[in-house]
Amino acid sequence: MIPMTLAEIAAVVGGTLHDCPDPAMLVTASVEFDSRRVTPGGLFVALPGEHVDGHEHAAAAVSAGAVGVLAARPVGVPAIVVPAVAMHDRRAMALAADVDGSGAAVLAALGKLARAVIDALEDLRVIGVTGSSGKTSTKDLLAAVLAPLGEVIAPPGSFNNELGHPWTALRATSSTRNLVLELSARGEGHVAALCRIAPPQIGVVLNVGTAHLGEFGSREAIARTKGELVEALPAATDGGVAVLNADDPLVLAMAERTAARVVLVGTSPRAEVRATGVRLDEQARPRLTLHTPQGEVEVALAVHGEHNVGNALAAAAVALECGATLEQIAAALAGARAASVRRMDVRTRMDGVTIIDDSYNANPDSMRAALKALASLSHGGGGVHDAPPRKSWAVLGEMAELGAVAVAAHDSIGRLAVRLDVSRLVVVGNAARAMHTGAVQEGSWGAESVLVADVETALTLLRTDLEPGDVVLVKASQSVGLWRIAEALLADVAPIQEQEVAK
Ligand SMILES: Nc1ncnc2c1ncn2[C@@H]1O[C@H](COP(=O)(O)OP(=O)(O)OP(=O)(O)O)[C@@H](O)[C@H]1O
Ligand SMILES: [Mg+2]
Repeated sequence: MIPMTLAEIAAVVGGTLHDCPDPAMLVTASVEFDSRRVTPGGLFVALPGEHVDGHEHAAAAVSAGAVGVLAARPVGVPAIVVPAVAMHDRRAMALAADVDGSGAAVLAALGKLARAVIDALEDLRVIGVTGSSGKTSTKDLLAAVLAPLGEVIAPPGSFNNELGHPWTALRATSSTRNLVLELSARGEGHVAALCRIAPPQIGVVLNVGTAHLGEFGSREAIARTKGELVEALPAATDGGVAVLNADDPLVLAMAERTAARVVLVGTSPRAEVRATGVRLDEQARPRLTLHTPQGEVEVALAVHGEHNVGNALAAAAVALECGATLEQIAAALAGARAASVRRMDVRTRMDGVTIIDDSYNANPDSMRAALKALASLSHGGGGVHDAPPRKSWAVLGEMAELGAVAVAAHDSIGRLAVRLDVSRLVVVGNAARAMHTGAVQEGSWGAESVLVADVETALTLLRTDLEPGDVVLVKASQSVGLWRIAEALLADVAPIQEQEVAK
């Protein structure tokens, strides 16, 4: 964090100092909510969690070098104590339902501190990314394309909520040029709340899908929430830029909701930053021609799946706004591999079996994208290669949080697997049963689709029936834990090193 005294922090967050012999003590290192990550000069944030109360680790954090603790009550070591937040204020804060009054107070204080830091860093550019799918993938591509322009701070993994978002913002310092933030939403007002913590100059909206449909009620409600990002941007005259996916009608419509300059991206002719000639190589990695107002360049992505084309276009559009050249962008995209785990992580074992581990999460849109990548990979990349098709396996589990449309959504994924001519469908867990029944009803199939009770049964089946050269997609919502299948299959036979696969 930028250097601030405990007294300054207390003033910014509206807290009082306790057990604090020296209010002028400077916080110079990072702000952490995990006491094991605290380093000398840092600030520890005590959060009351479901299983552990951070307040109990305050003394350990100070022993590890924390200058002080941001807390909801005195903890016997130097602390900035913030008062509990009333219920009606909590609703406006984009908080998880299980956060209580004292947790809300600490999170609100963290947000205020992040805002103070952002406001103090005049040369910092904040870039916000939202959408139903692809935020983390795009954030990782953005970190790569912006790297040649100076120091970039981006969250690790998927830090995108009321905790991970301000935690990431607080890592920015005077040497940071670009801060990339992922903005998630579980309800209306959530994206707006995150924008108040770190006001973005550039906002990217990727898509409006059906993720969390159960909580939002409709895609229009999801669009209203995602659009809060473009409403929060500065006007075009003050440098605000909204990067919108022209291929998604609900995102395109957001152009009406912003005073920022709109840059459309996509494959549609109206897109200013556009891809043509999209094709997939034998590893399902997209190749395309990138058209921009500055000219054209050939781009070969290192990430897998056609859905990454839109993510890469958004990253390229932002990089152009920030002053990158086309050559810098093409080179960065060619080198940017999936930096966050279990997202289209494609590995080929020594026996020629390819595992696509996309088990991080699933919703209907990302399921469709992953199934298409599976089909394309097993057909040697969109049929442009000579090799005979490989046998394809889709090992799929429940897509959670879909509410009333859950059965229909699972049913249509099962049918899509048949239409894409996937060789074997293994549906894991009863919650995803409708995928199996959908596949069976779609027609030609019989034994090609099976419903198995759990991960262990799926593994036994795969270990018995997998043959050299097969391609296996593993995907479900995070709660299903299907990565255990991908990990076990990769432990059975070692994967070939990536450089060899790339040849
Ligand atoms: N543009 C896209 N359209 C559809 N699916 C996508 C897109 N980009 C990535 N995916 C797929 O969606 C899944 C989630 O990707 P990613 O983690 O990048 O999204 P996210 O928006 O950060 O998700 P979360 O809301 O869980 O943070 C992955 O399985 C990935 O393969
Ligand atoms: Mg994410």
